[in-house]
Amino acid sequence: MSGFDFQERLVLVTGGARGIGLHLTHQLVERGARVLMVGRDLNALEKARNEHGDRVFIHAADLAHPDAAVELARWVAREHPDCSALINNAAIMIHEDLTKDGDLHAAAISTEIGINLTAPIQLAAALLPVLAKHEKSLIANVTSGLAIAPKRDAAVYCATKAGMRSFTRSLRDQCRKAGLGVQVSEVVMTLVDTTLSSAANAMKKYPPSFAAADMLAGIEKGQDEVWIEKTKILRLLHRLAPSLAYRIMRGR
Ligand SMILES: NC(=O)c1ccc[n+]([C@@H]2O[C@H](COP(=O)([O-])OP(=O)(O)OC[C@H]3O[C@@H](n4cnc5c(N)ncnc54)[C@H](OP(=O)(O)O)[C@@H]3O)[C@@H](O)[C@H]2O)c1
Repeated sequence: MSGFDFQERLVLVTGGARGIGLHLTHQLVERGARVLMVGRDLNALEKARNEHGDRVFIHAADLAHPDAAVELARWVAREHPDCSALINNAAIMIHEDLTKDGDLHAAAISTEIGINLTAPIQLAAALLPVLAKHEKSLIANVTSGLAIAPKRDAAVYCATKAGMRSFTRSLRDQCRKAGLGVQVSEVVMTLVDTTLSSAANAMKKYPPSFAAADMLAGIEKGQDEVWIEKTKILRLLHRLAPSLAYRIMRGR
């Protein structure tokens, strides 16, 4: 598939005001795109918008809410029907030992699955009619090396990312079968220095600006799967020696 050019595109970025998402916003504007930034924190959204003037629009939404993704898609269809790209970037990671505290985990499990899996799937499906009107459009879903080999203390997070990996593949196949000009890319993210990874013990984490740049470059090349930094090694290792890959990732 030919690549995706961000120039003059209107791109919806969930979680666009913080972490990797904020760097995506900055770099998309540098590439000549306009950005619809979504997050919960209105102050952070406004601060980022003020840096870019009329190139950035903001929408406050809590994607943990069961109706939020569909309401967001309706807002886009109504207010920004020229949107031609979705980057499903927002996520949370909860660290829980499921061997303890019995049924006290239920609420946290629902929230994490809601933000990381249900909302991005609903958003992709509900926005597809808007995106598919364009000759060429984009859905990019951010997953993780932990979708390939999970870590012990974030079982639900890893399951949501493995779920997004599977969903992305099926959605791509559906779009191709239907003859839609929608590029559906998975971005397999490495360990990056953001709030989400603050509990991870690692000597070195990839800078979020590099992660955003690699992501956009892979999408521009039209890649189905964009493997960021060390995930390229993980991909190979998982093919050659899966048990070693699992062992390395388990305790991260
Ligand atoms: N950092 C890593 O090491 C790493 C590794 C692999 C994959 N990833 C993936 O990379 C993506 C970006 O993560 P990050 O590292 O940039 O994390 P981050 O710095 O913690 O940022 C998370 C983003 O998600 C948004 N968000 C969280 N809960 C939300 C909710 N309920 N509703 C709407 N937005 C919500 C946040 O915005 P508000 O707080 O304003 O709502 C924030 O912009 C995620 O998909 C993550 O799984 C990260």
